[in-house]
Amino acid sequence: MKNIDSYGHVRGESLFIDDINVQQNTLLGLVFDSPKAHGIIKKLDLTEAEQIEGVIKIFTYKDIPGENQIGGIIADEPLLAEKEVHFVGQPIAFIVASSDSIAKKARALIKIEIDELPVITRAKEAAEKKHIIGTPRTFNLGNTTKAFDKCAFIFEDDVFTNGQEHLYLETQGAYAVPTENNCIKVTSSTQGPTQVQKAIAKVLGIGMHIIEVDVIRLGGGFGGKEDQATPWATLTALASYLLKKPVKFVLNRHDDLRMTGKRHPYESNFKIGLSKDLKIIAFEADFYQNAGAAADLSPAVAERTLFHATNSYFVENVKTSVYSCRTNLPPNTAFRGFGGPQGMFVIEAAIAKAANEIGVTSKEIQEANLLQENDVLSFGQIMTQTEATSSWNTALQNFNYKKLVKQVDEFNKENNDYKKGIALMPICFGISFTNTPMNHARALVHVYQDGTVGISTAAVEMGQGVNTKMLQIAVQTFAIAADKVKLETTNTTRVANTSPSAASATADLNGKALLKACLAIVGRLKTAAAEDLKVNEEEVSFQNELVYVNGKKSKLTWKALISKAMLARIALSEKAHYATPEIHFDKTIEKGHPFSYHVYGTAIITTTVDCTRGTYTFDAIKIVHDYGKSMSEGIDLGQVEGALAQGIGWMTMEEISYDNKGRLLSNALSTYKVPDIFSIADEIEVIPLETTGNEMAILKSKAVGEPPLMYGIGAYFAIQNAIKAYNPDYKLKFHAPMTPEKVLMSLYQ
Ligand code: MOS
Repeated sequence: MKNIDSYGHVRGESLFIDDINVQQNTLLGLVFDSPKAHGIIKKLDLTEAEQIEGVIKIFTYKDIPGENQIGGIIADEPLLAEKEVHFVGQPIAFIVASSDSIAKKARALIKIEIDELPVITRAKEAAEKKHIIGTPRTFNLGNTTKAFDKCAFIFEDDVFTNGQEHLYLETQGAYAVPTENNCIKVTSSTQGPTQVQKAIAKVLGIGMHIIEVDVIRLGGGFGGKEDQATPWATLTALASYLLKKPVKFVLNRHDDLRMTGKRHPYESNFKIGLSKDLKIIAFEADFYQNAGAAADLSPAVAERTLFHATNSYFVENVKTSVYSCRTNLPPNTAFRGFGGPQGMFVIEAAIAKAANEIGVTSKEIQEANLLQENDVLSFGQIMTQTEATSSWNTALQNFNYKKLVKQVDEFNKENNDYKKGIALMPICFGISFTNTPMNHARALVHVYQDGTVGISTAAVEMGQGVNTKMLQIAVQTFAIAADKVKLETTNTTRVANTSPSAASATADLNGKALLKACLAIVGRLKTAAAEDLKVNEEEVSFQNELVYVNGKKSKLTWKALISKAMLARIALSEKAHYATPEIHFDKTIEKGHPFSYHVYGTAIITTTVDCTRGTYTFDAIKIVHDYGKSMSEGIDLGQVEGALAQGIGWMTMEEISYDNKGRLLSNALSTYKVPDIFSIADEIEVIPLETTGNEMAILKSKAVGEPPLMYGIGAYFAIQNAIKAYNPDYKLKFHAPMTPEKVLMSLYQ
């Protein structure tokens, strides 16, 4: 089945926020934001701006009828700044005008005086000053102190990974319209419609039932719209509700880059201890997460770092701690992988360091420590259906790893201006929201009396193809043609109290709920068909829009059956609820079984470094990926390739830069390099791992959104190996992204 959005996207017919046909007299919103990273607002002068014709109103915190608070996990984030500002880009006022250009004119005329306070931009600096959000977390397994005494080798080092801009093609935005009886409808580009509904209710001081949030689709999310679509939707709703006028607000790219948080930069350090036969006996790491000026999702992101701190390896003694550090940057937020990549990079760095010092390859250490069946992770989850070794071995054999290494070695012997490097990257990523109560979803299915079907779930389509997967489930269960099923928008009045579309879990959670709803209807229809055909219910099945009895066609069509069921007053609609079974986690002891299953895979990455210029290309990336039993191979391959590109971007080129005043320097696509078609390998090969699949995954088709991003980590180490081939004196560094500038410096270090 094709991605159902392909046709509309290619023809430019798909609707995003900015494509909605707005009502007459719709007003345009614009945020006035803090020019300073930290300070006390001495004076805010709106008079000149307010006098411009066409400016309807400029909202400040004083206009908020409810609570000026949008913090999700911790209530530490005002919608509009009051006395103090905490980052450049923090919203202070919301201008509403009859046109966009008038709003811009007004913004330029707002005057502000700020008494500046010290600015902190680095995580460790914040930690030293005790600016920690929430409580630090520590996962403990075995006893690392004792274990280090038994180690033949011990190494320590510092690690840095930078942030990452989401760069969703569609910038943040929302459209709010007043509806009858003082109610409000908000169309938002959010991954979390319920989050938006809740925040609006709080800020306006009204019930959630007054607010309808609708999501058509997102032009990309990547985590950037999990929590951070909320402020814009809330501002739009605030203005619309108070003015009783439709209000639209879509951020321009520069405002979006400046005002929104990104992937968390991490400053970390590790200590790794190995035995003579290269077993990792003990591993310690401290992660200093740059959370930005408010909690946002940082505590949850921090937690996932600890869950993935040993990647796909078994380590008997582990002690890892994470600190969410409050700095004067925009609040950093969810980004594909959600802290997992930051954790996994550190243990891969530790392995690279150990290998380099001992004089073996990273591969030897990686291989000696891969997770085996029934191994335990540092938080107590016992690993079953472990595919770490199988994906590793499949990659080595299928892609003839030995031959690839030989080619690299031979090339390096014969060439001096160019050097090649090769690296292996195994991944192991847990599926489920780590916050157990969030693992649920609902679906609403209507079979209309002509036999066609409408589906609503909590799943938000953001380009990942989840709607196509939902459609497939209905098509398959009802055995009707795809054009007879419609995916409705994601709407809080049809499916309420939703978890955001995130954590790679959207298809699993919503798909399982949808399957349950479809099966309930099918059950009733089978009874009706059996009665009509005077056969036993067990003999009835549906195929190609026909009722089959004992595997043979009957005369009864799907359409006729639905008409009969309608006359017999059988319910043709169903709402189903799914909550992931078996998962649990106890934060008081930091132990449990938080993941319904893990996704595995292994990537082999080869690169060629130009040793005169410090530039590099990737020759080939070969991946064995654990899809389970993919229900949609095209969509899943798209997710692997897209995530891989994003991972390579994070590791090798995307360099977020703030100055020491907290101003974003990489504030345009001329100063922030994202991967393009030339950044990706000439050759990409992805083959599915042969497995029996996992019952916890929808139709045994495993979650695919986030895990493949971490294959990109291999790109970093492939480049390191190429540098080493050129410059034997090169001291490995773990400071991502490995930009051409850093490569050049390293070649001649
Ligand atoms: Mo995703 S990073 O869980 O929105």
